[in-house]
Amino acid sequence: MLNWKELYSECVNCNKCDLSKNRTNMVFGEGNLKSPIMFIGEAPGADEDRTGRPFVGRAGKLLTKALTALELTREKDYYVCNICKCRPANNRNPFEEEAKACIPYLRNQFALVKPKIIVCLGAVSLRYIMGNNYRITRDRGTWIERKGCYMTATFHPAAILRDENKKRVFWEDLKSIKNKYDELKKEEE
Ligand code: URA
Repeated sequence: MLNWKELYSECVNCNKCDLSKNRTNMVFGEGNLKSPIMFIGEAPGADEDRTGRPFVGRAGKLLTKALTALELTREKDYYVCNICKCRPANNRNPFEEEAKACIPYLRNQFALVKPKIIVCLGAVSLRYIMGNNYRITRDRGTWIERKGCYMTATFHPAAILRDENKKRVFWEDLKSIKNKYDELKKEEE
C-alpha cells in the first residue's frame, strides 16, 4: 500500500489507460483524509478535468448543497472521489478496461481513509464497487455490510439534474446516510 504522497504521484503520472492522453488534470479525490464517509462517483467531467477537483460542476454543486443541508462537509465529514481519475471524452461512461486500470488506486485510497460508510453515486460506481448484479433503481437506498463497512448507493447527482422526479428519493437516501453516520458516531461514544 502506498502512502498519500506516493499514491498521488503514481496517479498524476499514470498512463495505464488511454484516458490519460486527453486529460488536462488527473482528479485524485478531495475531503477529510480520515473521513467516516466516502462518496464514489464515476469519472471527472469537464469542470473537474479543468480544475483537478472532484464534483465541482453542476452535479457536484447539487451534491454539495444537499450534503451541506444535512450538515455534512468535505472538510470534516466526507471524502469524495471517482472510479476513474481522468475524464472520458464527451462524458461517456468509462470503458471496463479504464475502470479496471484505475480501481487499484481507489482501493489504496479506501485503505488510507478507512471510511465506515461507502456511498456509490450512480449505476457505474455501484457496478464496479458492489458487483454486476446490482441495479441502481432497484438497490439504491439499501445497505449492506462488508467487513465492518456499511455500503449503499444513490442516484448520481447528474441524474437528478436530468430528471426532477428522482429528487425525492435522492434526498431520502442522503438522509439515510446521515442517519447511519449519526448512529455509528453514537456507537463510538
Ligand atoms: N461526475 C462524477 O461522477 N464525478 C465527478 O467528479 C464529477 C461528475
